[in-house]
This record gives sequence, structure tokens and C-alpha cells, in this order.
Amino acid sequence: MSLHTDAIISYLRFLTSPACCRIIGILHPMLILAIETSCDETGISLLQAGGGLSKPKFKVIENLVSSQIKIHAPFGGVVPNLAKREHLKNLPILFNKLLKASSLGSKVSAEGGSASGGKSRKLKVDLIAVTVGPGLEPALWTGIEFAKELGKAHGIPVIGANHLEGHLYSFLLPGKQKTVATSDKRQWTRIFPAIALIVSGGHTILLNMKSFSSWKRLGETRDDAAGEAFDKVARLLGLPYPGGPYIEKIALHGNPHAIAFPRPMMRDSSPSGKYNFSFSGLKTSVLYYLKNNLAFNKTDVAASFQEAALDVLVSKTMRAAREYEANSVLLSGGVAANKTLRKRMKDESGKLGLNFFVPDFTYNLDNAAMIGAAGYFALMRKKKYILSARGDLEI
Ligand code: KG4
Ligand code: ZN
Repeated sequence: MSLHTDAIISYLRFLTSPACCRIIGILHPMLILAIETSCDETGISLLQAGGGLSKPKFKVIENLVSSQIKIHAPFGGVVPNLAKREHLKNLPILFNKLLKASSLGSKVSAEGGSASGGKSRKLKVDLIAVTVGPGLEPALWTGIEFAKELGKAHGIPVIGANHLEGHLYSFLLPGKQKTVATSDKRQWTRIFPAIALIVSGGHTILLNMKSFSSWKRLGETRDDAAGEAFDKVARLLGLPYPGGPYIEKIALHGNPHAIAFPRPMMRDSSPSGKYNFSFSGLKTSVLYYLKNNLAFNKTDVAASFQEAALDVLVSKTMRAAREYEANSVLLSGGVAANKTLRKRMKDESGKLGLNFFVPDFTYNLDNAAMIGAAGYFALMRKKKYILSARGDLEI
């Protein structure tokens, strides 16, 4: 090999290296293709990211999600191998759809269901971001393999992204409502320190954030996640899966003070309990109530359960905001789609003079745009996640 060829090869390697992507990402916006398959939503997104760690800015070009809810609903929860099968089927379909819908063009295709695109034109994106965890490992692997194959075929670097970081950063994705990226620039100085609550079907985590790249975990759930409690109580009430949105809907017609369900750990001020959560006792208490009151009022049970769960979430978040003298409160994860929770968090933040940030409704539930944001931040933070499924990956 000549010296000249060597130089070209090492230059090409540099161009596709994370270091180079990092430089490109700060200087001018980079194009990211993002993939999410951690649970029961297959997601592919194309987005532009720039601004680095100090002024991150995102533009979502496409955000495609294929939900498997109908397939898992009869089982009352997500079946990992069914999820894997559906992701394998949906990934190439969504990828081709994205190519057609976006400026990337239809000449680059996932022919024959593979990610390589056969002999067609090269895919012109700067980075591929894929969820590596937490989530269901068989499901995670489908996205990781798809991303790796795509990266290899088109010479694009692939970066691993943490699903929980995706939720955390999702408030930065511009949607229909005014978000931080499009709002008053002065707010940038008013975000940190921030208290962030991530509430999803698998997690309930409270963080104290100093910046977009540094945070401390204050607490988490010791048993069920908040979303899981919504789903389990919904099931007890005979509502479909996932139950969160159904509980919210019928709770609107019920009395939130009709039944005094417990608020587990709400007043616990011990160092070990202050910022931790527990929702399993609340769910059991609903179960006993239903057993002992056969003529129960469904809407009152839903409203009273929701009130109890939200009381705990809101009061612990505000306690942390006061203790750590936060400038803002960030709310994210599937349960953040709950309008009553959003309103209460906003009102309570307002009373303390804090900014409140929550994702646009498009980005509360699992999606790939948030994974693009998490991938971008991982690159900027030089955080390397191994491209291998990690079911229990932490934030
Ligand atoms: O973030 P997500 O889509 O998936 C996980 O990463 O877990 O969250 C799904 C969870 C489910 O438990 C679902 O019931 C809950 O979010 N959820 C809600 C609402 N919408 C979704 N919980 C309460 N109220 C809602 N409106
Ligand atoms: Zn999620």
C-alpha cells in the first residue's frame, strides 16, 4: 500500500471517528439517524443536532413510531420474544418509509429487509444512534444489529444511547408547543441546577442536574415504577393495557378525594427514604379496596389512585427542588403524558418561582428522536456505551 493510500485511509477513518463527529457537531449541525427498540415501540428518526453541551439545539426531520400495543395487549404486558419479532419486521419498513419521506431519497433503500441497502447509494448521515439499554434485551438487540449493519454498509459511525437519557433530554425536542429551544434565550441560564423526574413504565428516578452532562441520582423506586402501578391498577379495574391513559381518562369523571389511598414514603424524611419511591403498596391497597367494596365506583377509584400517586411524585420533586435550590424542574417519561401531573408540576414549580420543562406530547412515550438527542449528548460528553444490549443499564 502506498503512503498516499495510507494517508487517505487514515483520513477516512478520522472522518468517521467519534472525535471528528464531535467537532462537526459543535461547529455546525450534524444529521443523526436514530433507532429505538427497547420495548414495544419500534422507532426511527432523522434529526439535526448542534450547539454542543452549552446550547444544544435539535430539529426533528422525521420521527416514525410503530406501536405494538395491540399485539401485547391481550397478554396484559409486553412479551419479549413477540417484541423482538415485531421489531425485526418493522425496522426495514420504517427505514424505507423514512428514506422516502426525507431528503435522504429513495435510492438508498433497505432492500430485501436488510439494513445494508444492497448496492444502492450511500446514506448521507453523520451518525447513527441506537438504544443499548435499559430495556428488554431481545428487543434491544434487534435495533443494535440493524444499526451496526447500516453503519458498516454505509461507513457511518454508530453510537450507543441510554434510553433514560433519551427521556431526560426529550424536553429539548421542538414540537407544537413552545419548548426550550424555541423559547426565550435567557432561559438557558435558568435551567440548572435542575431537578429531573423520569417517570415511565419501567422507572421512577429523581435526579439533581448540574448541567446537561452532570447529575446525581437522588432516588428511585424500590419496587414498582409509577407507570407500572398505573398499568396494574388499570388491569384491576378491567381497563386495557397500557392502563395509564385509561386511568387518566376515567379519573376526569371521578372524585380524587373519595377514597383515602396511602401515599407511600411521602413523608419519609430519612436519608435513605427521602427521595425514594414505592408504589407496590398503593396498588395492593387498591386491590383490597376493590375486594372489600364490590359495588365500587370505578371513576372514583381511578381518580383517588391517581391523586395518591401524583401527590407522592409532586411532593418529592418539590422537596428536592427546595433542598437543592433548583432553577427548574424537568419532567419526562411516559407518565409525563398525564395532563394532571403536568399541570400540578407546573403549578407547584410556579409557586416556587421555578421554570418547568416537559416534552411536547409527541415525545413523552418511547420514540427515536429522543434517542438521537441522547446519542448527540453522549458524543459531546465522550460517553461511550458498548454496542451491546444492557437490560439494566442505569442513568
Ligand atoms: O416511557 P414509556 O413509553 O415506556 C417506558 O420506557 O416504560 O412509558 C410507558 C408508561 C406506561 O406504564 C403507561 O401506562 C404510562 O407510561 N402512561 C401514562 C399515561 N400515558 C402513558 N401514565 C399515566 N397517565 C398517562 N396519560
Ligand atoms: Zn421509555
